[in-house]
Amino acid sequence: MPAIQVRPGIHWIGVNDRTTDLFEGLWPITQEGVSYNSYLVVGDKTALVDLTKIGKEGALLEQIQDVIGDRPLDYVVVNHMEPDHTGAIALLRRVFPDVVFVGSAKTRTLLESFYALTENVQVVGEGDEIALGGKTLRFLMAPFVHWPETMVTYEPTEKVAFTCDAFGGFGALRGAIFDDEYADMGFYLREAQRYFANILPSFSGPVLRAINKLDEVDVSVIAPSHGLVWRHDPSRIVNLYRTWSEYATRPAEYGITMVWGSMYGNTEAMMNAVAEGISRTGIPLTIFDAARTHVSYILPSLWSQRGVMIGAPTYEASPFPPVATVLEMAEHKRVRNKQVAMFGSYGWSGGARRSLEQKVEQLKWQWFDAFEFNGGPSHEDLRQGEAFGERFARAILDS
Ligand SMILES: Cc1cc2nc3c(=O)[nH]c(=O)nc-3n(C[C@H](O)[C@H](O)[C@H](O)COP(=O)(O)O)c2cc1C
Ligand SMILES: [Fe+2]
Ligand SMILES: [Fe+2]
Repeated sequence: MPAIQVRPGIHWIGVNDRTTDLFEGLWPITQEGVSYNSYLVVGDKTALVDLTKIGKEGALLEQIQDVIGDRPLDYVVVNHMEPDHTGAIALLRRVFPDVVFVGSAKTRTLLESFYALTENVQVVGEGDEIALGGKTLRFLMAPFVHWPETMVTYEPTEKVAFTCDAFGGFGALRGAIFDDEYADMGFYLREAQRYFANILPSFSGPVLRAINKLDEVDVSVIAPSHGLVWRHDPSRIVNLYRTWSEYATRPAEYGITMVWGSMYGNTEAMMNAVAEGISRTGIPLTIFDAARTHVSYILPSLWSQRGVMIGAPTYEASPFPPVATVLEMAEHKRVRNKQVAMFGSYGWSGGARRSLEQKVEQLKWQWFDAFEFNGGPSHEDLRQGEAFGERFARAILDS
């Protein structure tokens, strides 16, 4: 894509990545892609805010030259050191040998450890400004959104906030970069939520602190380094991020996420019965086959609904591993404030329930009840499973 003007003197340049299969080597983006957005701020001096991943720098250079021609690049602002935004550092140093890298004190340490970069580094602190002549860069520290060194850069004449990972989303840009240019926002809203639930849940507190800090400044454009640029309704993405972050400390939406697995169909038969009972109450229900769905797609639902129904047969005295794996990730991502119930089939002495109860304790989730049955479900078992599902749903609705 060519460079696109965001505001006079401020240009989006960036890379649409449609060939990386796993973001962070972990989260699937084969279908969705991702963008690494950089921004060129042009005053008497020039600054580039955030870079792109290694292997994608060629496109970036062309876009820079399209905007500034033969003029030198004076500054590179490093809001965040993660290599999806710094991979292009080596190439930029070669092309612009005098460019000054600007970042927080922690960024200086990380620039040395990741890129052996010690020369031409300028450290900035809270509220510091760099005057570009006609444009100004102001720096707001935002530690742990998403690493310890992260900061937000704010341009006061055009009121643009460059927020890097904050307010970002998965999803390559489909021909336009602004929120008002898409008739259907469904894809980007879903992918922003998946991005948040995959990358940022553990940093919900720092995200909220960054949002509170931004509330103090007049922002007309939110320009993150992944996904859409929000110029029509920046408060939309800020409020979504605020709401998602708050789910770290309070119960989420009324809804139930069912995560199930089955080897030979017994737990699957019960899953249908339990789902019937839940659906009868009208509460939103989202169902995931843990063995066939990457946890990346389960986390958004788990994070934003307050009820969790686990369907797991016993496998070697433990819960069916694909289901257990989802709970491991939930613990890693600090998914909290859930009510949880479980059902599943066992062959002889069971074990799924015992082990799940321990896991739920670690997660600090509220245990509701379990409904296990031996072998294949009888008609009576299925009837009880339906009632079990309904009872759990009513408890969620009453919570
Ligand atoms: C590989 C494997 C390991 C199992 N381990 C146990 C076990 O340790 N304890 C137990 O009570 N049942 C065990 N079972 C029996 C299953 O829990 C039982 O067959 C159950 O009905 C499977 O439910 P499903 O049809 O939903 O997969 C095991 C079954 C398999 C296939
Ligand atoms: Fe990051
Ligand atoms: Fe990032």
